[in-house]
Amino acid sequence: MHSWKINKLQVTNFRNLQPDVLEFSDSINCILGENGNGKTNILEALHVLIKRKSFRKNASFPQYLGIDGESPEIYFSSVFKDENENKMPCSGKMRDKTSEWYLDGKPSKRKLDVGIVFINPFDSNTFHLTPAFRRNWVDSHLSQVSDVYKKLLSQYTQMLRFRNNLLSKKPNKFREQILASDPQFIKASIELTNMRIDFLNQINPFITETFFKIFSEEHELMISIDSKVAGSSEEFLQKILQENFEKDIIIGHTSYGIHKDDYVLLFDGLNSFDYCSLGQQKMSYLSLLFAYIELFRYKFKTFPIVLIDDVSGELDRFRWGRLIDYLETSKFQVLITTANEEFKKELEKIEGSVKFFVTNGSTQKLS
Ligand SMILES: Nc1ncnc2c1ncn2[C@@H]1O[C@H](COP(=O)(O)OP(=O)(O)OP(=O)(O)O)[C@@H](O)[C@H]1O
Ligand SMILES: [Mg+2]
Repeated sequence: MHSWKINKLQVTNFRNLQPDVLEFSDSINCILGENGNGKTNILEALHVLIKRKSFRKNASFPQYLGIDGESPEIYFSSVFKDENENKMPCSGKMRDKTSEWYLDGKPSKRKLDVGIVFINPFDSNTFHLTPAFRRNWVDSHLSQVSDVYKKLLSQYTQMLRFRNNLLSKKPNKFREQILASDPQFIKASIELTNMRIDFLNQINPFITETFFKIFSEEHELMISIDSKVAGSSEEFLQKILQENFEKDIIIGHTSYGIHKDDYVLLFDGLNSFDYCSLGQQKMSYLSLLFAYIELFRYKFKTFPIVLIDDVSGELDRFRWGRLIDYLETSKFQVLITTANEEFKKELEKIEGSVKFFVTNGSTQKLS
């Protein structure tokens, strides 16, 4: 992974944003402005440029396209820079069904090799409440640090879809075919589970450490997997599939597979959802994300770009302060937004940070 940082960004026809050229600092960039003016849209535009998809659920081209835009196309123009001042122009044109991307002036299907972490502390609630969000959190973060996992997960998803498709046929004439393809399905399941366990083992030492580093409180934090097959052999999963087979044919899908596995965030050994206050849940969730950033650095000797969307809700002033101190001493590039006046005052104290003010989609750099 290369250590690219975003240097310049201009987007045209993206949501309510004006095509201003934004010139970013290598360290902390504060994006200020009142509600509904376009702060999150700036983070989203950068996310779409790098990952070709949004961090917002159910958002794609029709939602991105500015409603007042003159043409049905979105343009991205940007320059990334590394620590040796090497520059990488990256641009693109998005339409409803197609898009074209250019790296260093040449057409490219490849994405720019740069990591990105999106932090929206409101997600802390969803993380604690929704198993699907936790699964997706692990899958997307692990995929970003492991191409092998990403590829195998996509194969698994295809195999599962194929299996469910065969199971759903009535009357079912595909028993033999399902049984014949199960060994491959089982093999992928066990491999993915082992990779998930490895990932959690790698991230865990960083969570407690990060919680202490940010909030100066000693608590033991860890994320653990809740899976029927964790640590088990292929034979064990085969036994489960066999036991469920007749039921699965009746209901028309795979009732247990590793896509149903879940994760628990433990706070001093207790489920943080049952035990922690909302503030503590948010602190734990933030520590998990920053621990991931540490792990990313450990693996790639470089940092991802960190997008932080309105972090202030539910954390008290003391804890914001601690978080800002943490960001100030960190080496990664941060784009952080807020509409909160008091948090804004704290952010403004950060020496050397660049500040932008967004009004009605138009962004001005404050000196
Ligand atoms: N496709 C679109 N075309 C034009 N405007 C859009 C489009 N999609 C969203 N908007 C507008 O973008 C604005 C929201 O921008 P954004 O979510 O970035 O606000 P924000 O500054 O982050 O606000 P908050 O502080 O409330 O989070 C809204 O006014 C919305 O109407
Ligand atoms: Mg916002």
